[in-house]
Amino acid sequence: MYLYGASGHAKVIIDILNASGIEVEALFDDDVSIKELLSIPVKHQWNGESPIVVSVGNNHSRKQIAEKLKCEFITVAHPTAVVSPHAAIGEGTVIMQGAIIQSDVTMGRHCILNTGASIDHECVIGDYVHISPQATLCGNVQVGEGAWIGASAVVIPGVKIGKWCTIGAGSVVVSDIPDGAIAYGNPCRIKSYNVTPCLDQRFSSTNRIAIYGAGGLGREVAGGIQRINKAGHQQWEIVGFFDDNIPVGTQVSHYGKVLGGINELNAFDEPLALAIAVGSPKTRKFIYNLIKNENITFPNLIAPSFRILDNKTFTIGQGNIIQDNCSVTCDVKIGDFNVFNGSNAMGHDVNVGNYNVMMPGVRLSGEVTVGDCNLLGVGSVVLQRVKIGNNLTLGAGSVMMTKPKDGLTYIGVPAKKFDF
Ligand SMILES: CC(C)(COP(=O)(O)OP(=O)(O)OC[C@H]1O[C@@H](n2cnc3c(N)ncnc32)[C@H](O)[C@@H]1OP(=O)(O)O)[C@@H](O)C(=O)NCCC(=O)NCCS
Repeated sequence: MYLYGASGHAKVIIDILNASGIEVEALFDDDVSIKELLSIPVKHQWNGESPIVVSVGNNHSRKQIAEKLKCEFITVAHPTAVVSPHAAIGEGTVIMQGAIIQSDVTMGRHCILNTGASIDHECVIGDYVHISPQATLCGNVQVGEGAWIGASAVVIPGVKIGKWCTIGAGSVVVSDIPDGAIAYGNPCRIKSYNVTPCLDQRFSSTNRIAIYGAGGLGREVAGGIQRINKAGHQQWEIVGFFDDNIPVGTQVSHYGKVLGGINELNAFDEPLALAIAVGSPKTRKFIYNLIKNENITFPNLIAPSFRILDNKTFTIGQGNIIQDNCSVTCDVKIGDFNVFNGSNAMGHDVNVGNYNVMMPGVRLSGEVTVGDCNLLGVGSVVLQRVKIGNNLTLGAGSVMMTKPKDGLTYIGVPAKKFDF
C-alpha cells in the first residue's frame, strides 16, 4: 500500500489505514527534501507501485496527480466511519474518523470526507470534492467536481453546489451556488469567483512555478501567487526567479532566489510553470520568444478577487497575470501574456490581444479593442468602441476618446499625441 503526497493529510490517512491493519510501505512526493513521514520512507520517483491513495488535500493538485498516475487506487474508510451499504463510493476516496454517509449517496473518485463530516441520503458528490471536518450535507444535496466545503459548513436539503466552488468554514448554504464561486457566511453569499481551477492551470502539468523578472513586478506576482495559494484551490510552489540583470543567488524579498537568466531557464530539465513579470510590453514578447524549453508552461495567474459577471462568456488565453480587484462583465476576450496590474475594469465585448500591460486602475469601456504590446498607464480610461492598435503608450490618467495611431504616445484628457 502506497500514498502519494507526504503531507499532514497523509499522516491522517496512515492512521486510518493502520486502524484497519494495513501498513503503508512507502510514500511518494515531488519534494526531495522530505525523506520520511511517521518513520515511513518517502521516495521521489514513482515506478508504478500500487495500490495507491493520493494523499494531497488540495483538490486541484489531487486531480492532477490522480490523472498522471494510471494505476489501482484504493478507497479508504476509518472503522469508526459509518457508510451505508446502499452508498456508492468512487476509487481513491478517503473517509475519515467519525464521518457518516447515508443511504443512496453517490460519491465520486478521489474525494475527502473529513473528520466527523456527514452526507445525508441521496446526495450526489462529484470527483475530487473535499468536505471538511464536521461539515453537514442534508439530503439530496449535489456537489460538483473539485468543490471544497469548509469546516462545519451546513448545506440545507436539495441545494446544488457547482464545480470548483469554495464554501467558507461555518457557512450555512441555503441556495444554489454556481460553478467556481467563493461563497461564505450565514446565509452563504457569493463573494467572488474562483476562476483559478478552471483557468489558471490549464497550461501547466506542474505546481512548481518560477517568475521571470526579479524586480518590483516580480515581487508583486510572487505575492499574488501566495494569495492564490491561500484561497485554497491551488498550491503553487515558487522555486525562484530568473533574471538576466540580477546576479544568481540574489534573494528576492522572502519569495526566493535568482536561479539564473534565460540560458538557465532554457536548460531547466523539469516541468516548470513560468510567469513573465516584466512591465514592458515589448520586452515581455521578446522574452517569451527567447524561451525554447518545452518543459516550460505558462499558466494564467488570476487573483481570487477577480470578478466575472458571466463565466460562460469569458475567454482567456495563457500566461496572463490578473492582480487583485479586476473585473470583467460580459463577452470579454483576453489573449496571451497580458498583465492586469490591479483594479482594472473591462466592460462588455472588450477584446484584448497579447503582451499588453495595464497599470492599476485602467478602465476599458464596452466594445473597446486593444491590440498587442500596448502600455496603458495608471488610471487611464478608454472610451466605448475605441480601437487601440499595437505598441501604443497611454499616459497615466489620460482618456482615449478616438482611435489612436500605432506606436505613439498619447497623454491628456482627451488624450493627444505627445511629441517628445
Ligand atoms: C472562504 C475562505 C476560503 C476565504 O478565504 P480568503 O479569500 O483568503 O478570505 P480572507 O481571509 O481574505 O477574508 C476576506 C473577508 O471574508 C471574511 N471571511 C473569510 N472567511 C469567512 C467565513 N468562512 N465566514 C465568514 N466570513 C469569512 C473575513 O473575515 C474577511 O472579512 P473582512 O474583509 O471584513 O475583513 C476561507 O476563509 C475559509 O473559510 N476557508 C475554509 C477553511 C477550512 O474549512 N478548512 C478546512 C481544512 S481541513
